[in-house]
Amino acid sequence: MTMRVLVLFLAAATLVSARQPVRFKKAMVVAQEPHAADAGVDILKSGGNAVDAAVAVGFALAVTYPVAGNLGGGGFALIRMADGRTAFLDFRERAPLSATRNMYLDPGGNPTRDSVAGWRAAGVPGSVRGFEAMHRKFGSRPWSKLVAPSVKLAKQGFVLSDHATRSLRANAKDLEPFPESKRIFLNNGRFFEMGDRLRQPELAATLARIAKRGARDFYVGETARILAEQCAANGGHITQEDLRQYKAIERPVLKGTYKGYEVLAISPPSSGGVGILQMMGVLEGSGYEKTGPGSARAIHMLAEAMRRYYADRAEHLGDPDFHKVPLRGLFAADYVGRLRSGIDPDHATPSAQVKAGTPAPGAEPTETTHFSIVDAQGNAVALTYTINGGFGNGVTVPKLGFLLNNEMDDFAVKPGVPNMFQLIQGEGNAIQPKKTPLSSMTPTMLVKDGKLRLIAGAPGGSRIITGVLQVILNVVDHGMNIQEAIDAPRFHHQWMPDKLMLEKGFSPDTVELLRSRGHTIDSISGVANVNGIVLDGTWLAGAWDGRGDGKVAGY
Ligand code: DON
Repeated sequence: MTMRVLVLFLAAATLVSARQPVRFKKAMVVAQEPHAADAGVDILKSGGNAVDAAVAVGFALAVTYPVAGNLGGGGFALIRMADGRTAFLDFRERAPLSATRNMYLDPGGNPTRDSVAGWRAAGVPGSVRGFEAMHRKFGSRPWSKLVAPSVKLAKQGFVLSDHATRSLRANAKDLEPFPESKRIFLNNGRFFEMGDRLRQPELAATLARIAKRGARDFYVGETARILAEQCAANGGHITQEDLRQYKAIERPVLKGTYKGYEVLAISPPSSGGVGILQMMGVLEGSGYEKTGPGSARAIHMLAEAMRRYYADRAEHLGDPDFHKVPLRGLFAADYVGRLRSGIDPDHATPSAQVKAGTPAPGAEPTETTHFSIVDAQGNAVALTYTINGGFGNGVTVPKLGFLLNNEMDDFAVKPGVPNMFQLIQGEGNAIQPKKTPLSSMTPTMLVKDGKLRLIAGAPGGSRIITGVLQVILNVVDHGMNIQEAIDAPRFHHQWMPDKLMLEKGFSPDTVELLRSRGHTIDSISGVANVNGIVLDGTWLAGAWDGRGDGKVAGY
Protein backbone atom coordinates (compact mmCIF):
# COMPACT_ATOMS: atom_id res chain seq x y z
CA MET A 1 0.00 0.00 0.00
CA THR A 2 1.45 3.37 -0.91
CA MET A 3 1.60 6.06 1.74
CA ARG A 4 -1.14 8.06 -0.04
CA VAL A 5 -3.51 5.09 -0.14
CA LEU A 6 -2.73 4.27 3.48
CA VAL A 7 -3.54 7.82 4.56
CA LEU A 8 -6.83 7.74 2.64
CA PHE A 9 -7.67 4.37 4.13
CA LEU A 10 -7.01 5.57 7.68
CA ALA A 11 -9.07 8.71 7.09
CA ALA A 12 -11.99 6.59 5.89
CA ALA A 13 -11.61 4.23 8.83
CA THR A 14 -11.75 7.19 11.21
CA LEU A 15 -14.88 8.47 9.52
CA VAL A 16 -16.79 5.22 9.93
CA SER A 17 -15.50 4.26 13.35
CA ALA A 18 -18.04 4.74 16.13
CA ARG A 19 -17.54 6.74 19.27
CA GLN A 20 -16.83 4.27 22.02
CA PRO A 21 -18.60 4.27 25.37
CA VAL A 22 -16.59 4.60 28.57
CA ARG A 23 -15.86 1.20 30.10
CA PHE A 24 -15.29 0.19 33.70
CA LYS A 25 -14.89 -3.24 35.12
CA LYS A 26 -16.94 -3.22 38.32
CA ALA A 27 -19.21 -0.31 39.01
CA MET A 28 -20.48 2.79 37.29
CA VAL A 29 -22.47 5.98 37.68
CA VAL A 30 -23.65 7.93 34.66
CA ALA A 31 -25.12 11.32 35.50
CA GLN A 32 -25.64 14.67 33.83
CA GLU A 33 -23.18 16.51 36.08
CA PRO A 34 -19.62 15.37 36.86
CA HIS A 35 -19.36 16.31 40.59
CA ALA A 36 -22.52 14.35 41.30
CA ALA A 37 -21.33 11.30 39.34
CA ASP A 38 -18.08 11.37 41.32
CA ALA A 39 -19.98 11.64 44.62
CA GLY A 40 -21.82 8.44 43.69
CA VAL A 41 -18.65 6.56 42.82
CA ASP A 42 -17.05 7.61 46.13
CA ILE A 43 -19.96 5.98 47.94
CA LEU A 44 -19.60 2.82 45.83
CA LYS A 45 -15.86 2.65 46.49
CA SER A 46 -16.42 3.01 50.21
CA GLY A 47 -18.67 -0.06 50.22
CA GLY A 48 -22.07 1.49 49.55
CA ASN A 49 -24.44 -0.22 47.14
CA ALA A 50 -26.15 1.22 44.07
CA VAL A 51 -29.08 2.53 46.14
CA ASP A 52 -26.76 4.29 48.58
CA ALA A 53 -24.97 5.83 45.62
CA ALA A 54 -28.30 6.90 44.08
CA VAL A 55 -29.25 8.76 47.26
CA ALA A 56 -25.86 10.51 47.26
CA VAL A 57 -26.12 11.42 43.56
CA GLY A 58 -29.69 12.64 44.01
CA PHE A 59 -28.68 14.98 46.83
CA ALA A 60 -25.50 16.09 45.03
CA LEU A 61 -27.38 17.00 41.85
CA ALA A 62 -29.66 19.18 43.98
CA VAL A 63 -26.52 21.27 44.58
CA THR A 64 -24.51 20.99 41.37
CA TYR A 65 -27.27 20.75 38.75
CA PRO A 66 -29.91 23.25 39.89
CA VAL A 67 -31.58 23.29 36.47
CA ALA A 68 -33.13 19.92 37.32
CA GLY A 69 -31.51 18.28 40.35
CA ASN A 70 -33.63 19.04 43.34
CA LEU A 71 -35.04 18.87 46.82
CA GLY A 72 -38.10 20.80 45.68
CA GLY A 73 -39.31 18.36 43.01
CA GLY A 74 -39.93 14.67 42.63
CA GLY A 75 -39.29 11.62 40.52
CA PHE A 76 -39.25 7.93 39.94
CA ALA A 77 -36.69 5.25 40.83
CA LEU A 78 -36.57 1.85 39.20
CA ILE A 79 -34.41 -0.51 41.22
CA ARG A 80 -33.22 -4.02 40.44
CA MET A 81 -31.14 -5.82 43.03
CA ALA A 82 -28.63 -8.47 41.97
CA ASP A 83 -30.84 -11.19 43.49
CA GLY A 84 -33.62 -10.24 41.07
CA ARG A 85 -35.84 -8.19 43.42
CA THR A 86 -37.29 -5.15 41.71
CA ALA A 87 -39.04 -2.03 42.95
CA PHE A 88 -40.57 1.13 41.54
CA LEU A 89 -40.68 4.05 43.94
CA ASP A 90 -42.93 6.94 42.98
CA PHE A 91 -41.90 10.09 44.80
CA ARG A 92 -43.38 12.52 42.35
CA GLU A 93 -45.01 15.76 43.42
CA ARG A 94 -48.66 15.65 44.41
CA ALA A 95 -51.33 18.35 44.09
CA PRO A 96 -51.75 20.34 47.31
CA LEU A 97 -54.88 19.74 49.42
CA SER A 98 -56.23 23.13 48.35
CA ALA A 99 -55.88 22.35 44.62
CA THR A 100 -58.95 22.68 42.44
CA ARG A 101 -59.66 21.62 38.90
CA ASN A 102 -59.73 25.13 37.43
CA MET A 103 -57.13 26.74 39.66
CA TYR A 104 -54.99 27.88 36.71
CA LEU A 105 -57.79 29.27 34.51
CA ASP A 106 -58.60 32.97 34.21
CA PRO A 107 -62.20 34.19 34.57
CA GLY A 108 -62.65 33.60 30.82
CA GLY A 109 -61.72 29.92 31.32
CA ASN A 110 -58.32 30.21 29.64
CA PRO A 111 -55.06 28.78 31.03
CA THR A 112 -52.81 31.34 32.74
CA ARG A 113 -49.01 31.19 33.23
CA ASP A 114 -49.52 30.36 36.91
CA SER A 115 -49.05 26.62 36.40
CA VAL A 116 -45.63 27.32 34.89
CA ALA A 117 -43.98 30.24 36.69
CA GLY A 118 -43.96 31.38 40.29
CA TRP A 119 -45.04 30.11 43.67
CA ARG A 120 -48.48 28.84 42.63
CA ALA A 121 -47.00 26.36 40.13
CA ALA A 122 -45.45 24.05 42.71
CA GLY A 123 -46.77 20.66 43.68
CA VAL A 124 -45.84 19.09 47.04
CA PRO A 125 -42.20 17.95 46.66
CA GLY A 126 -41.34 14.26 46.99
CA SER A 127 -37.60 13.82 46.39
CA VAL A 128 -36.48 13.73 50.02
CA ARG A 129 -39.17 11.20 51.03
CA GLY A 130 -38.27 9.21 47.92
CA PHE A 131 -34.60 9.01 48.82
CA GLU A 132 -35.57 8.02 52.35
CA ALA A 133 -37.87 5.25 51.06
CA MET A 134 -35.18 3.85 48.75
CA HIS A 135 -32.64 3.94 51.51
CA ARG A 136 -34.95 2.22 54.02
CA LYS A 137 -35.75 -0.56 51.60
CA PHE A 138 -32.36 -1.31 50.09
CA GLY A 139 -29.68 1.02 51.48
CA SER A 140 -26.69 -0.23 53.44
CA ARG A 141 -24.72 2.85 54.54
CA PRO A 142 -25.80 5.40 57.16
CA TRP A 143 -28.09 8.10 55.76
CA SER A 144 -25.94 10.98 57.02
CA LYS A 145 -22.94 9.65 55.07
CA LEU A 146 -24.99 9.79 51.87
CA VAL A 147 -26.12 13.37 52.39
CA ALA A 148 -22.64 14.51 53.49
CA PRO A 149 -21.12 14.98 49.99
CA SER A 150 -23.93 17.35 49.00
CA VAL A 151 -23.53 19.38 52.23
CA LYS A 152 -19.85 19.80 51.37
CA LEU A 153 -20.54 20.74 47.74
CA ALA A 154 -23.07 23.36 48.85
CA LYS A 155 -20.94 24.77 51.68
CA GLN A 156 -17.52 24.83 50.05
CA GLY A 157 -18.91 25.44 46.58
CA PHE A 158 -17.96 23.84 43.32
CA VAL A 159 -16.44 25.18 40.14
CA LEU A 160 -18.96 26.01 37.46
CA SER A 161 -18.42 24.49 34.04
CA ASP A 162 -19.07 26.19 30.75
CA HIS A 163 -22.23 24.11 30.43
CA ALA A 164 -23.47 25.20 33.87
CA THR A 165 -22.89 28.91 33.30
CA ARG A 166 -24.59 28.75 29.92
CA SER A 167 -27.58 27.02 31.43
CA LEU A 168 -27.84 29.71 34.11
CA ARG A 169 -27.67 32.51 31.55
CA ALA A 170 -30.14 30.81 29.24
CA ASN A 171 -32.73 30.68 32.03
CA ALA A 172 -32.00 34.15 33.44
CA LYS A 173 -35.35 35.63 32.52
CA ASP A 174 -37.21 32.94 34.49
CA LEU A 175 -34.96 33.32 37.54
CA GLU A 176 -34.66 37.10 37.60
CA PRO A 177 -38.15 37.91 38.93
CA PHE A 178 -37.41 36.03 42.18
CA PRO A 179 -34.88 37.82 44.42
CA GLU A 180 -33.35 34.70 45.99
CA SER A 181 -32.97 33.04 42.57
CA LYS A 182 -31.37 36.17 41.16
CA ARG A 183 -29.00 36.53 44.10
CA ILE A 184 -27.89 32.89 44.24
CA PHE A 185 -27.98 31.70 40.64
CA LEU A 186 -27.41 34.89 38.67
CA ASN A 187 -24.76 36.34 40.98
CA ASN A 188 -27.15 39.19 41.72
CA GLY A 189 -27.50 39.99 38.03
CA ARG A 190 -23.76 40.01 37.30
CA PHE A 191 -23.84 36.39 36.06
CA PHE A 192 -21.27 33.71 36.68
CA GLU A 193 -18.35 32.90 34.41
CA MET A 194 -16.97 29.45 33.75
CA GLY A 195 -14.47 28.69 36.53
CA ASP A 196 -16.34 30.68 39.20
CA ARG A 197 -17.22 28.88 42.40
CA LEU A 198 -20.90 28.60 43.34
CA ARG A 199 -21.42 28.45 47.11
CA GLN A 200 -24.90 27.86 48.51
CA PRO A 201 -24.82 28.33 52.30
CA GLU A 202 -28.62 28.29 52.81
CA LEU A 203 -28.88 25.04 50.87
CA ALA A 204 -25.93 23.64 52.86
CA ALA A 205 -27.82 24.38 56.09
CA THR A 206 -30.99 22.70 54.77
CA LEU A 207 -29.01 19.64 53.68
CA ALA A 208 -27.15 19.51 57.00
CA ARG A 209 -30.48 19.36 58.84
CA ILE A 210 -31.67 16.59 56.50
CA ALA A 211 -28.40 14.73 57.06
CA LYS A 212 -28.88 14.94 60.81
CA ARG A 213 -32.63 14.56 61.24
CA GLY A 214 -33.58 12.66 58.11
CA ALA A 215 -36.51 13.31 55.78
CA ARG A 216 -38.58 14.30 58.84
CA ASP A 217 -36.88 17.66 58.74
CA PHE A 218 -38.25 18.33 55.26
CA TYR A 219 -41.78 17.08 55.96
CA VAL A 220 -42.51 17.83 59.61
CA GLY A 221 -39.45 19.71 60.89
CA GLU A 222 -37.86 23.09 60.48
CA THR A 223 -37.62 22.91 56.68
CA ALA A 224 -41.35 22.09 56.50
CA ARG A 225 -42.17 25.02 58.74
CA ILE A 226 -40.10 27.51 56.73
CA LEU A 227 -41.32 26.20 53.38
CA ALA A 228 -44.98 26.48 54.41
CA GLU A 229 -44.38 29.93 55.92
CA GLN A 230 -42.75 31.17 52.71
CA CYS A 231 -45.50 29.71 50.54
CA ALA A 232 -48.16 31.41 52.66
CA ALA A 233 -46.33 34.73 52.46
CA ASN A 234 -45.94 34.55 48.68
CA GLY A 235 -49.22 33.07 47.48
CA GLY A 236 -47.99 29.47 47.16
CA HIS A 237 -50.24 26.53 47.99
CA ILE A 238 -48.01 24.15 49.96
CA THR A 239 -48.90 23.95 53.65
CA GLN A 240 -47.41 22.08 56.59
CA GLU A 241 -50.35 19.68 56.35
CA ASP A 242 -49.52 18.97 52.68
CA LEU A 243 -45.96 18.17 53.66
CA ARG A 244 -47.02 16.09 56.65
CA GLN A 245 -49.31 13.96 54.48
CA TYR A 246 -46.82 13.40 51.66
CA LYS A 247 -45.88 9.76 51.10
CA ALA A 248 -43.56 8.08 48.62
CA ILE A 249 -45.48 5.20 47.06
CA GLU A 250 -44.18 1.83 45.95
CA ARG A 251 -45.98 0.89 42.75
CA PRO A 252 -45.86 -2.10 40.39
CA VAL A 253 -42.89 -2.63 38.11
CA LEU A 254 -44.21 -3.41 34.63
CA LYS A 255 -42.66 -6.46 33.04
CA GLY A 256 -42.84 -7.13 29.34
CA THR A 257 -40.67 -8.76 26.74
CA TYR A 258 -38.95 -7.61 23.57
CA LYS A 259 -36.90 -9.87 21.30
CA GLY A 260 -35.96 -12.25 24.08
CA TYR A 261 -35.26 -9.52 26.65
CA GLU A 262 -37.32 -8.97 29.74
CA VAL A 263 -38.21 -5.28 29.88
CA LEU A 264 -38.56 -3.69 33.33
CA ALA A 265 -40.51 -0.47 33.14
CA ILE A 266 -42.50 1.76 35.46
CA SER A 267 -46.26 1.95 35.80
CA PRO A 268 -48.52 5.04 36.05
CA PRO A 269 -48.40 7.85 37.07
CA SER A 270 -45.61 7.48 34.52
CA SER A 271 -46.86 7.18 30.98
CA GLY A 272 -43.36 6.05 30.00
CA GLY A 273 -43.32 2.36 30.86
CA VAL A 274 -46.65 1.54 29.28
CA GLY A 275 -45.58 3.55 26.21
CA ILE A 276 -42.30 1.69 25.83
CA LEU A 277 -44.10 -1.65 26.15
CA GLN A 278 -46.91 -0.76 23.77
CA MET A 279 -44.57 0.60 21.09
CA MET A 280 -42.20 -2.35 21.43
CA GLY A 281 -45.22 -4.65 21.06
CA VAL A 282 -46.30 -2.88 17.87
CA LEU A 283 -42.76 -3.04 16.43
CA GLU A 284 -41.88 -6.61 17.34
CA GLY A 285 -42.74 -8.82 14.43
CA SER A 286 -43.30 -5.85 12.09
CA GLY A 287 -39.85 -6.27 10.55
CA TYR A 288 -39.44 -2.49 10.81
CA GLU A 289 -35.72 -2.85 11.52
CA LYS A 290 -34.87 -4.64 8.27
CA THR A 291 -34.29 -1.47 6.28
CA GLY A 292 -31.74 -0.27 8.85
CA PRO A 293 -31.55 2.56 11.38
CA GLY A 294 -32.46 5.95 10.00
CA SER A 295 -34.15 4.51 6.90
CA ALA A 296 -37.40 6.15 5.87
CA ARG A 297 -39.36 2.93 6.31
CA ALA A 298 -38.04 2.31 9.83
CA ILE A 299 -38.71 5.92 10.86
CA HIS A 300 -42.20 5.75 9.38
CA MET A 301 -43.11 2.56 11.24
CA LEU A 302 -41.83 3.94 14.52
CA ALA A 303 -43.55 7.29 14.02
CA GLU A 304 -46.85 5.50 13.41
CA ALA A 305 -46.39 3.49 16.60
CA MET A 306 -45.59 6.72 18.49
CA ARG A 307 -48.62 8.52 17.07
CA ARG A 308 -50.93 5.74 18.24
CA TYR A 309 -49.44 5.53 21.71
CA TYR A 310 -49.66 9.26 22.40
CA ALA A 311 -53.36 9.18 21.40
CA ASP A 312 -53.86 6.47 24.02
CA ARG A 313 -51.77 8.42 26.50
CA ALA A 314 -54.00 11.47 26.18
CA GLU A 315 -57.16 9.47 26.84
CA HIS A 316 -56.24 6.63 29.15
CA LEU A 317 -53.29 7.66 31.33
CA GLY A 318 -53.39 9.43 34.69
CA ASP A 319 -52.77 8.82 38.38
CA PRO A 320 -54.05 5.26 38.95
CA ASP A 321 -55.23 6.21 42.46
CA PHE A 322 -57.74 8.61 40.89
CA HIS A 323 -58.35 7.34 37.38
CA LYS A 324 -58.87 3.82 36.09
CA VAL A 325 -55.98 3.14 33.70
CA PRO A 326 -56.50 0.06 31.47
CA LEU A 327 -52.86 -0.65 32.14
CA ARG A 328 -52.03 -4.10 30.90
CA GLY A 329 -54.66 -3.90 28.17
CA LEU A 330 -52.62 -1.10 26.60
CA PHE A 331 -49.76 -3.46 25.83
CA ALA A 332 -51.59 -6.79 25.64
CA ALA A 333 -50.71 -8.86 22.56
CA ASP A 334 -54.10 -8.70 20.84
CA TYR A 335 -54.37 -4.93 21.34
CA VAL A 336 -50.89 -4.15 20.01
CA GLY A 337 -51.58 -6.58 17.16
CA ARG A 338 -54.62 -4.50 16.19
CA LEU A 339 -52.56 -1.32 16.38
CA ARG A 340 -49.84 -2.88 14.20
CA SER A 341 -52.28 -4.05 11.54
CA GLY A 342 -53.75 -0.53 11.38
CA ILE A 343 -50.41 0.90 10.22
CA ASP A 344 -50.03 1.44 6.48
CA PRO A 345 -46.32 0.96 5.64
CA ASP A 346 -46.55 3.48 2.80
CA HIS A 347 -48.79 6.21 4.14
CA ALA A 348 -48.91 8.28 7.29
CA THR A 349 -52.26 8.07 9.08
CA PRO A 350 -53.39 11.64 9.83
CA SER A 351 -53.55 12.08 13.60
CA ALA A 352 -57.10 13.44 13.27
CA GLN A 353 -58.09 9.91 12.24
CA VAL A 354 -56.24 8.26 15.12
CA LYS A 355 -58.33 8.08 18.25
CA ALA A 356 -57.39 6.39 21.50
CA GLY A 357 -58.13 2.70 21.17
CA THR A 358 -60.24 0.39 23.28
CA PRO A 359 -57.62 -1.74 24.99
CA ALA A 360 -58.10 -5.40 25.75
CA PRO A 361 -60.44 -5.68 28.76
CA GLY A 362 -60.02 -7.99 31.71
CA ALA A 363 -56.21 -7.97 31.71
CA GLU A 364 -55.88 -5.82 34.84
CA PRO A 365 -54.72 -6.88 38.30
CA THR A 366 -55.09 -3.13 38.97
CA GLU A 367 -35.83 20.14 33.15
CA THR A 368 -35.54 16.68 34.71
CA THR A 369 -32.43 14.60 35.03
CA HIS A 370 -31.67 10.95 34.85
CA PHE A 371 -28.87 8.84 36.26
CA SER A 372 -28.00 5.19 35.93
CA ILE A 373 -25.97 3.24 38.50
CA VAL A 374 -24.62 -0.31 38.73
CA ASP A 375 -22.56 -1.47 41.70
CA ALA A 376 -19.94 -4.22 41.92
CA GLN A 377 -22.57 -6.74 43.14
CA GLY A 378 -24.82 -6.05 40.15
CA ASN A 379 -27.48 -4.02 41.98
CA ALA A 380 -28.84 -1.28 39.77
CA VAL A 381 -30.79 1.96 39.94
CA ALA A 382 -32.34 3.99 37.13
CA LEU A 383 -33.59 7.25 38.57
CA THR A 384 -35.23 10.20 36.83
CA TYR A 385 -36.29 13.21 38.88
CA THR A 386 -37.40 16.67 38.01
CA ILE A 387 -38.68 20.11 38.87
CA ASN A 388 -40.32 20.04 35.40
CA GLY A 389 -39.14 23.16 33.55
CA GLY A 390 -35.50 24.26 33.69
CA PHE A 391 -35.06 25.68 37.23
CA GLY A 392 -38.66 24.67 37.96
CA ASN A 393 -41.02 27.53 38.71
CA GLY A 394 -38.05 29.92 39.06
CA VAL A 395 -38.54 30.35 42.81
CA THR A 396 -35.71 29.72 45.26
CA VAL A 397 -37.23 29.42 48.74
CA PRO A 398 -35.74 32.12 50.99
CA LYS A 399 -33.76 30.68 53.94
CA LEU A 400 -33.82 27.18 52.41
CA GLY A 401 -31.84 27.73 49.22
CA PHE A 402 -33.64 25.30 46.91
CA LEU A 403 -35.79 25.79 43.85
CA LEU A 404 -39.42 24.73 43.64
CA ASN A 405 -41.02 22.74 40.85
CA ASN A 406 -43.69 23.77 38.35
CA GLU A 407 -45.03 20.24 38.10
CA MET A 408 -48.66 21.38 38.38
CA ASP A 409 -48.35 22.12 34.64
CA ASP A 410 -48.04 18.38 33.99
CA PHE A 411 -51.73 18.09 34.87
CA ALA A 412 -54.30 18.80 32.21
CA VAL A 413 -54.76 22.38 33.42
CA LYS A 414 -57.63 22.48 30.94
CA PRO A 415 -58.34 19.04 29.46
CA GLY A 416 -57.92 19.14 25.70
CA VAL A 417 -55.65 22.22 25.70
CA PRO A 418 -51.89 21.60 25.12
CA ASN A 419 -49.45 22.06 28.03
CA MET A 420 -45.83 23.32 27.90
CA PHE A 421 -44.79 20.18 26.02
CA GLN A 422 -47.72 20.66 23.62
CA LEU A 423 -49.23 17.50 25.07
CA ILE A 424 -52.97 17.25 24.94
CA GLN A 425 -54.24 15.44 27.99
CA GLY A 426 -57.63 14.28 29.13
CA GLU A 427 -59.98 14.11 32.07
CA GLY A 428 -57.94 11.35 33.69
CA ASN A 429 -55.19 13.90 34.31
CA ALA A 430 -57.36 16.80 35.51
CA ILE A 431 -56.32 18.49 38.80
CA GLN A 432 -57.58 17.06 42.10
CA PRO A 433 -56.20 17.45 45.63
CA LYS A 434 -53.42 14.94 46.46
CA LYS A 435 -53.39 13.62 42.89
CA THR A 436 -50.12 13.02 41.04
CA PRO A 437 -49.71 14.66 37.62
CA LEU A 438 -49.08 12.28 34.73
CA SER A 439 -45.42 12.02 33.78
CA SER A 440 -43.36 10.92 30.79
CA MET A 441 -40.30 9.95 32.84
CA THR A 442 -39.18 6.51 31.72
CA PRO A 443 -36.34 4.85 33.66
CA THR A 444 -36.08 1.42 32.04
CA MET A 445 -34.00 -1.77 32.30
CA LEU A 446 -33.51 -4.81 30.07
CA VAL A 447 -32.73 -8.22 31.53
CA LYS A 448 -31.69 -11.38 29.70
CA ASP A 449 -31.21 -14.86 31.17
CA GLY A 450 -31.72 -13.39 34.62
CA LYS A 451 -28.92 -10.83 34.15
CA LEU A 452 -29.19 -7.09 33.83
CA ARG A 453 -28.15 -5.97 30.32
CA LEU A 454 -29.13 -2.35 29.88
CA ILE A 455 -30.27 0.70 31.83
CA ALA A 456 -31.56 3.86 30.18
CA GLY A 457 -33.49 6.99 31.01
CA ALA A 458 -33.67 10.67 30.15
CA PRO A 459 -35.05 14.14 30.72
CA GLY A 460 -36.92 15.77 27.84
CA GLY A 461 -40.60 16.17 28.68
CA SER A 462 -42.93 14.38 26.28
CA ARG A 463 -39.92 13.26 24.22
CA ILE A 464 -38.48 11.14 26.99
CA ILE A 465 -40.51 8.08 26.02
CA THR A 466 -39.60 8.15 22.34
CA GLY A 467 -35.96 9.02 23.12
CA VAL A 468 -35.48 6.13 25.51
CA LEU A 469 -37.27 3.78 23.12
CA GLN A 470 -34.99 4.68 20.21
CA VAL A 471 -31.82 4.20 22.23
CA ILE A 472 -32.96 0.75 23.36
CA LEU A 473 -33.93 -0.20 19.79
CA ASN A 474 -30.57 1.04 18.49
CA VAL A 475 -28.83 -1.37 20.84
CA VAL A 476 -31.16 -4.36 20.51
CA ASP A 477 -32.18 -4.13 16.86
CA HIS A 478 -29.28 -2.33 15.24
CA GLY A 479 -26.36 -3.69 17.25
CA MET A 480 -25.01 -0.26 18.19
CA ASN A 481 -22.84 0.27 21.24
CA ILE A 482 -24.48 2.45 23.89
CA GLN A 483 -22.58 5.58 22.83
CA GLU A 484 -23.53 5.17 19.16
CA ALA A 485 -27.09 4.38 20.20
CA ILE A 486 -27.27 7.66 22.11
CA ASP A 487 -25.42 9.73 19.49
CA ALA A 488 -27.58 8.61 16.54
CA PRO A 489 -30.08 11.24 15.37
CA ARG A 490 -33.55 10.78 16.81
CA PHE A 491 -37.07 11.79 15.93
CA HIS A 492 -40.35 12.24 17.75
CA HIS A 493 -44.07 12.01 17.09
CA GLN A 494 -46.65 12.62 19.80
CA TRP A 495 -49.92 12.33 17.87
CA MET A 496 -50.78 16.01 18.36
CA PRO A 497 -49.44 18.24 16.89
CA ASP A 498 -49.49 15.98 13.84
CA LYS A 499 -45.81 16.49 13.03
CA LEU A 500 -42.87 14.19 12.61
CA MET A 501 -40.09 16.08 14.37
CA LEU A 502 -36.54 15.31 13.26
CA GLU A 503 -33.23 16.17 14.83
CA LYS A 504 -30.38 17.26 12.56
CA GLY A 505 -28.54 14.42 10.90
CA PHE A 506 -31.08 12.67 8.69
CA SER A 507 -30.32 12.63 5.00
CA PRO A 508 -32.41 14.97 2.84
CA ASP A 509 -33.35 11.96 0.69
CA THR A 510 -34.79 10.20 3.71
CA VAL A 511 -36.72 13.30 4.71
CA GLU A 512 -38.17 13.49 1.17
CA LEU A 513 -39.24 9.85 1.35
CA LEU A 514 -40.99 10.56 4.65
CA ARG A 515 -42.76 13.56 3.14
CA SER A 516 -43.90 11.43 0.24
CA ARG A 517 -45.51 9.05 2.74
CA GLY A 518 -47.59 11.97 3.98
CA HIS A 519 -45.67 13.06 7.08
CA THR A 520 -45.56 16.73 7.97
CA ILE A 521 -41.92 17.24 8.86
CA ASP A 522 -40.67 19.65 11.48
CA SER A 523 -37.23 20.10 12.98
CA ILE A 524 -36.51 19.69 16.66
CA SER A 525 -33.41 20.68 18.60
CA GLY A 526 -33.16 17.49 20.64
CA VAL A 527 -35.27 14.44 21.43
CA ALA A 528 -34.51 13.90 25.12
CA ASN A 529 -31.07 13.57 26.66
CA VAL A 530 -30.57 9.88 27.24
CA ASN A 531 -27.89 8.23 29.30
CA GLY A 532 -27.36 4.59 29.96
CA ILE A 533 -25.25 1.58 30.74
CA VAL A 534 -24.89 -1.69 28.84
CA LEU A 535 -23.56 -4.77 30.63
CA ASP A 536 -22.02 -7.50 28.54
CA GLY A 537 -21.08 -9.81 31.39
CA THR A 538 -17.46 -8.67 31.59
CA TRP A 539 -17.53 -4.90 31.27
CA LEU A 540 -19.87 -2.06 31.99
CA ALA A 541 -20.12 0.34 29.06
CA GLY A 542 -21.63 3.72 29.87
CA ALA A 543 -22.50 6.79 27.85
CA TRP A 544 -23.87 10.24 28.43
CA ASP A 545 -25.58 12.31 25.83
CA GLY A 546 -23.69 15.09 24.04
CA ARG A 547 -27.01 16.90 23.67
CA GLY A 548 -26.24 18.00 27.24
CA ASP A 549 -23.46 17.49 29.77
CA GLY A 550 -22.47 14.51 31.86
CA LYS A 551 -19.92 12.06 33.07
CA VAL A 552 -19.41 8.33 33.22
CA ALA A 553 -17.60 7.66 36.49
CA GLY A 554 -16.62 4.28 37.82
CA TYR A 555 -13.90 1.86 38.70
O1 DON B 1 -42.66 14.30 34.34
C1 DON B 1 -42.62 14.77 33.21
O2 DON B 1 -43.01 14.18 32.22
C2 DON B 1 -42.05 16.15 33.01
N1 DON B 1 -42.21 16.91 34.21
C3 DON B 1 -40.61 16.03 32.62
C4 DON B 1 -39.98 17.38 32.35
C5 DON B 1 -38.70 17.30 31.63
O3 DON B 1 -38.23 16.26 31.27
C6 DON B 1 -38.06 18.61 31.32
N2 DON B 1 -36.67 18.42 31.03
N3 DON B 1 -36.15 18.50 29.98
